[in-house]
Amino acid sequence: MCGIIGYVGKAEAVPILLEGLKRLEYRGYDSAGVATLEEGLVSVRKEVGRIDDLRRSIALNPIGGSTGISHTRWATHGKVTRENAHPHLDRSGKLALVHNGVIENYAELRTQLEEEGHLFVSQTDTEALAQLVGRAFDRSTERNQGALVSAVREALTHVKGTYGIAVVHAELPGLIIGARRGSPLVLGIGKGEHFLASDVSAIVGHTRDVVYLNDYEIAAITGEGFVLSTIDGAGAGYNVTTVDMSHEDVDKGEYPHYMLKEIHEQVRSVTDALRGRLSHEEATAKLGGLNMSNGDLRSIERIVLSGCGTAFHAAMVGEYLIESLAQIPTECEYASEFRYRNLPMTKDTLVFVLSQSGETADTLAALRESQRKGHRTLGICNNVASTIARESDGGVYMHAGPEIGVAATKSFTSQVTVLTLIALLLGRIRNLSSSAGSRIISELEELPAKIDRVLKLEVEIAAIARRYAQSKVMLFMGRQYNYPVALEGALKLKEISYIAAMGYPSAELKHGVIALVNPETPSVVIAPNDAVFAKNLSNIEEVKARGGPVIAIGTEGKGNELSLICDDVILIPEASEILTPILASIVLQFFAYYIAVELGCDVDKPRNLAKSVTVE
Ligand code: M6R
Repeated sequence: MCGIIGYVGKAEAVPILLEGLKRLEYRGYDSAGVATLEEGLVSVRKEVGRIDDLRRSIALNPIGGSTGISHTRWATHGKVTRENAHPHLDRSGKLALVHNGVIENYAELRTQLEEEGHLFVSQTDTEALAQLVGRAFDRSTERNQGALVSAVREALTHVKGTYGIAVVHAELPGLIIGARRGSPLVLGIGKGEHFLASDVSAIVGHTRDVVYLNDYEIAAITGEGFVLSTIDGAGAGYNVTTVDMSHEDVDKGEYPHYMLKEIHEQVRSVTDALRGRLSHEEATAKLGGLNMSNGDLRSIERIVLSGCGTAFHAAMVGEYLIESLAQIPTECEYASEFRYRNLPMTKDTLVFVLSQSGETADTLAALRESQRKGHRTLGICNNVASTIARESDGGVYMHAGPEIGVAATKSFTSQVTVLTLIALLLGRIRNLSSSAGSRIISELEELPAKIDRVLKLEVEIAAIARRYAQSKVMLFMGRQYNYPVALEGALKLKEISYIAAMGYPSAELKHGVIALVNPETPSVVIAPNDAVFAKNLSNIEEVKARGGPVIAIGTEGKGNELSLICDDVILIPEASEILTPILASIVLQFFAYYIAVELGCDVDKPRNLAKSVTVE
């Protein structure tokens, strides 16, 4: 939800800011803008559209300066227009501000400021904050760093909501003020230059030494150094972290899209999720990050898994895994619903929140609500420096590497891998035998090689996908472990191709959905060789009897039975049923990807979406 980057140093700011914005484009991409300080003025350029549109606009009308802030927007308040694009100015026209988050009381603040004579040019919540900071600075008799920090601090005391901001003022060249509450902000330390950004990916080409700001902290950065303080005026300590991410990690490399690159990274990402976590000796998983003894884990009576979107679908697979291997009653709750429900939770309920980014506002709110109620709340995150990772009481990192494509791919398979490890661990301290534990470990060890074999089906899947690309509606079905995979397959297709797609448990079809079946509505049925294979076959027959085309995902060795009745069959390697969601979901990732490409859709930046949803 919006990306911001600021630069102060000796170099020209614009190229650095545009390059950084390009890397943050996954956070929002409906409009973008830059403000630099040059010759005692603020120069602003904004454009509706992508960063490349802004780049072209600046090439026609260049701006210079070695201090600047910039923003790529995902609209919340106000339409996608140039006026609503950031940066926003105060009434003096000397102060510019970029913002990621939502100012909840902006209407009230705006009315008050308008009564005082401030004129607004946009419909955004952010402009109210720019005006507030400008008003506070203009009331000050001083014109220095301390005065601008105080003005930011004063303005933020009036604000309800979330923000990651960067502010510059024409009278103070060589200075940027940043602050955060609820939206991520990282400070990059260079040689004679400093950066502020929503995400390290924007700055790793310049520095890997960073300080992650905490909520309620303010940073004042200059070329030479930085000062951190809190919003209530106290000094703030900090740790410098050296990030383990390179430019290459956040580049597309040889691939046309991040999504395709990330699909292909799943041999490595799943291997990394398993690395060092399997104990043959004890036939269990080793997950030190949970910060819980076996005794603590044994006393758990109930588990709640919470997340959004793809993470929620992974959680649903987790529910099947934990209940089956550990026999602990488990429930999935949308993070966005969690805090508004009176969910009965006994004192021995353990909560997991799942989030690739670790910044999803709804998931963060679920984490905080769960902790507020006194429950131990663990995170399953990819981004190790994220707010959820830092605030949770422990957890398991996914180690999937940066996921940039808006459509989640490798994060799903890594989340399911981690949940399998958790289920194995919980099972082994309860009823699961060591022979069953050893079998699961062996199967997990074979998993990366099986993923590699699924990746080799790419050309075959692409050909099938192209044949169905003109469909208006598609149905996805699966049972048990693969019901969440049907939901995930449908979500993937919807979000990147805009085809209406729905996921169901296969047997639910006859309770209503079958009314949609006709020769123009293909059904994708996930029917591996598992305990419900025969049941799935019956469901496929029901679709075929009504003239619906069927694309089946089956298991090698069981292809004949499916080929007899289905229009197309894609076969994954034989695997334990608990691991079929990982293999089948990769098929569906390719399927959605190649349909979207065939339709000419912008795969990495689907309309209306953003990678990290940091607003409620
Ligand atoms: O970063 P998170 O895992 O918390 O993100 C959750 C969802 O926003 C995310 O999975 C979203 O549904 C994806 N676009 C799905 O592909």
